[in-house]
Amino acid sequence: RVPKRQPLLEQEEIDTKWEFARDNLVLEGSLGEGEFGQVVQARAFGIDGRQEYKTVAVKMLKNYAAPCERQDLMSELNLLKDVNHPNVIRLLGCCTFAGPLYVIVEYCEDGSLLSFLRQSRLQEPSFENHRFRHRHHAGVRLLDSKSKIQILTIADLLSFAWQIARGMQYLSEMKLVHRDLAARNVLVASGKLLKISDFGLTRDVYEADTYLKKSKGRIPVKWLAPESLFARVYTTHSDVWSYGVVLWEICTLGAPPYPGIPPERLYNLLIGGYRMDRPEFCTDEMYAVMQKCWKLDSNDRPSFAELVDIFDGILEEKT
Ligand code: ADE
Repeated sequence: RVPKRQPLLEQEEIDTKWEFARDNLVLEGSLGEGEFGQVVQARAFGIDGRQEYKTVAVKMLKNYAAPCERQDLMSELNLLKDVNHPNVIRLLGCCTFAGPLYVIVEYCEDGSLLSFLRQSRLQEPSFENHRFRHRHHAGVRLLDSKSKIQILTIADLLSFAWQIARGMQYLSEMKLVHRDLAARNVLVASGKLLKISDFGLTRDVYEADTYLKKSKGRIPVKWLAPESLFARVYTTHSDVWSYGVVLWEICTLGAPPYPGIPPERLYNLLIGGYRMDRPEFCTDEMYAVMQKCWKLDSNDRPSFAELVDIFDGILEEKT
């Protein structure tokens, strides 16, 4: 076990622009956890210059994380220092000194896009829900005092597709390849504002536009482009493939992709031309965009700038 208090590495300088005093941070409940990292809700006093507490999210390692995990979190922190876009999660500060590494980011009150999509489904096709469906076809439904189910409109779903394309266009212009774009890694802030998050695997590809992953990782296979699966090649074009899978997740309100297909069979299926079917409530227009993102030759896929234009057009038509 690695001790909880990580020693400060000699070569690490304290970045006074971002360093936040630990004493001003009150950690609260867990917002989620992965294999080595976790995200905790917290209140930070004075983090935005005002003399008050602000709710924030703090990303940190678990007690038994390996040194390379700390390095990954550190590189995520350093990437976040340079990004500034409404559809990308914003860094508020960090605690790198005299204690565990904390990366403090803006809090997104509606959690992950995946859970947001899933909770927007009507619970059961029961009589209750039928009656409800006719009486309140849009807006917010109060189920009981605790749960708040947001019913999403087609315009919301199109806006999600547009917002993610905008955030990804920005990242690709910054020469950043995300490598783990999926609905679970997009957060929902108030006003249905989406923020691309989870930069743990993001790499700067300024040099070659391609990132070659050297060791076996833990990336979920069903979001990966064939070239990433086969040759561990990650580019903005492979992010576009993943974006196509996110569109599928949006259209199905958060269904797991390739239902019933074992991940080890996926590569051969994709090479042979197999693609997911059009989801039941997805328009031909939307499905055509997914199919463009899933072109085998990565150069045939649209750019994020083109995807933004496509959804600009569709939104203008529909709204
Ligand atoms: N879960 C993971 N990161 C989060 C954040 N920034 N806000 C809310 N929930 C989260």
